[in-house]
Amino acid sequence: MADTTSAIEWDRDADGIVTLTMNDPTQNANTMNQLFIDSFRTTVQRLVDERSTITGVVVTSAKDVFFAGGDLHDIVEARPEDAEAITTRSNGLKSVLRQLETLGVPVVAAINGAALGGGYEIALCCHHRIALDRKGTVVGLPEVGLGLLPGGGGVVRTVRMFGVQEALTNLLLKGQKYRPADALAKGLVDEVVATPEQLNERAKAWITANPGARQRFDAPDYRIPGGTPNVADFAAKLPALPAVLRKQLKGSPLPAPRNILAAAVESTQVDLDTALKIETQYLVDLMTGQISKNMINAFFFDQQSIKKGASRPAGIPVTEFHKVAVLGAGMMGAGIAYVQAVAGMQVVLKDTTFEAADRGKDYSRKLLDKQVARGKLSPGARDQILARITPTADYADCAGSDAVVEAVFEDPDLKQRVFGDIEPLLSPDALLASNTSTLPITELAHGVSRPEGFIGTHFFSPVDKMPIVEIVVGEKTSDATLAKAIDYTLAIGKMPIVVNDSRGFFTSRVIGKFVDEALAMVGEGVSPSSIEQAGVQAGYPSAPLQLNDEVTLHLPLAVRELTRAAVEADGRTFDENGAGPVLAKMVREFGRKSRASGAGFYDYGPDGKRIGLWPGLADAFDSGSLELPFIDIQERMLFAEAIDTVRCFDEGVLRTVADANVGSILAIGFPAWTGGVVQYVNQYDGGVAGFVARARELAQRYGDRFTPPESLVEQARTAQPYQPSATA
Ligand code: NAI
Repeated sequence: MADTTSAIEWDRDADGIVTLTMNDPTQNANTMNQLFIDSFRTTVQRLVDERSTITGVVVTSAKDVFFAGGDLHDIVEARPEDAEAITTRSNGLKSVLRQLETLGVPVVAAINGAALGGGYEIALCCHHRIALDRKGTVVGLPEVGLGLLPGGGGVVRTVRMFGVQEALTNLLLKGQKYRPADALAKGLVDEVVATPEQLNERAKAWITANPGARQRFDAPDYRIPGGTPNVADFAAKLPALPAVLRKQLKGSPLPAPRNILAAAVESTQVDLDTALKIETQYLVDLMTGQISKNMINAFFFDQQSIKKGASRPAGIPVTEFHKVAVLGAGMMGAGIAYVQAVAGMQVVLKDTTFEAADRGKDYSRKLLDKQVARGKLSPGARDQILARITPTADYADCAGSDAVVEAVFEDPDLKQRVFGDIEPLLSPDALLASNTSTLPITELAHGVSRPEGFIGTHFFSPVDKMPIVEIVVGEKTSDATLAKAIDYTLAIGKMPIVVNDSRGFFTSRVIGKFVDEALAMVGEGVSPSSIEQAGVQAGYPSAPLQLNDEVTLHLPLAVRELTRAAVEADGRTFDENGAGPVLAKMVREFGRKSRASGAGFYDYGPDGKRIGLWPGLADAFDSGSLELPFIDIQERMLFAEAIDTVRCFDEGVLRTVADANVGSILAIGFPAWTGGVVQYVNQYDGGVAGFVARARELAQRYGDRFTPPESLVEQARTAQPYQPSATA
């Protein structure tokens, strides 16, 4: 009968090899709960006691996942006053792990499924790691993405095994998850096998062949690969890190990368036991702070609720997508075709000529070739994926598709025409989706015979990298269609956030407020370099004027003028926000239109590289004539987005807090440390009431657009976190 009092099963074979199978009887995954910790301690003690009869240890799991790591609920609840208790518990657990790795017999991790975070840290305590190559097996230390660090020895051991530079770049700062082949190439696992039987056989064979195994860092002649860095000097060596990691460390308000770096470098200066304790201190600092909680809420709990279908209408069976037509093989269509093919769908990529469609397929070819060159994909797998994409100029090839995703030019007549052409070839329940970035879905739906089957799937560029799709529900879109669009988005591995149709949807509208605020400040005479610095130090992934140059100055100017004409024709006044005149001056007076055209707020070299802010800005806008407190510059951008998000709830554009938080970070770069735009409002000093008071102050100084919406003022009176009525 299964033992329900232990999370670890013990089995000794005739050769004296003990297999420890992690199998928590109380839940479907193995996690670092109290039962596990107690079982682990007892089990390791038994290993110690029976050591003379044991020849080796295999650590594996009976679950699909090798080990799922710490319980994030505990971390969200950890308060500063818990620091001591957490430190004691963490150091206690680490000493048991240390006992296992110094037992004096070979210990092998038989990684039969995902080993992330705590799971990989258990594997790191073993002398040899074998991964079973099957769906779901990944290894890595993704803690940084939740504002944490791997505090179960993950920093200390990876630094000692791979060297500071390698450990930081491959694992600790990137938080990347590696499939078995990549993990093998990077040395994160030592072997990869194809079947569970081989996993067991190889583990035992390795033990038999390596009776004297121990950790390489426990050998007397051990040296840290790449040498022990000099703490004082390491900062100077930071330039050796890839740019994206340097950016995490400089300027960004995220504390996890800095704590990771400090723990890594300091750990090299001391013995292993001290290093493990230092690591704990840096972990506890992060765990008891607010930022990790914000990030866990957004990146774990909010994402989980989205994936579980918080916005998916109930009672509708899940749709599987076998064949999907993509109309338009331009930048977006080509990217959409790629992610679909990778997800295993048959893709018909239709453009006006075969050549144009095939050029779209080339995009996939290039991305896949790159992966083959890096050893991440076999040539055979590449060919299989490519074979799923059929380029064509003939609608007939689209017949029988489960869905069509339209990505032709942003022209409403053209879009309606292509849907008119394709609809007769599709079954009546096929999903009709448009990737329009600006056109109202409800109006586009007028052009199809089944408006209830029509929906917006707003992808972001580059499609293969951006993890999110904004699903836009039109007035007539049915629940079944919304459910299908969510199923489709999840099937291609993206996060679906759901919004109701409106101009600019949620994402384009709110990011516009960020960009406009930066432009307004340029117009007021604030120094552009202060604006850029304020943006980066607030935690935006891109400085605002750099972003302006990327998206171009002339297109938003054109859109703005069309909108103004429409608003004024309605007899209303168009709110310039101070941004319009700046755009107009840059484009019309100075001909500075975009990065692509070689000149915007920045100067660019002939190779397209950014040189620096355009010196002419100083005269053009009397830059520097207005000095604002740095915090005001930052909060004008943050508040402009947060307040407009509240308006999106008030107007029924946004439906759930999770969508707002996740969408704001993943789609439009709202600073990740906030845990998303709604958490920003709630966590503001003084809570919602504090936010409202500060918004009023900003309104008084900088304009009515900061006046807090009535719904927020109401909410502030309740002293509860912001709870939009749409989700109540
Ligand atoms: P693009 O100009 O790169 O590609 C459009 C493609 O549609 C071209 O290859 C063109 O030949 C093709 N096309 C034109 N008429 C067609 C027809 N009758 N049948 C089939 N194909 C036809 O444009 P891009 O950037 O890919 O944008 C496509 C759509 O995606 C637009 O609605 C755009 O607003 C939207 N979008 C664009 C984003 C971006 O970052 N570029 C982001 C999100 C949405």
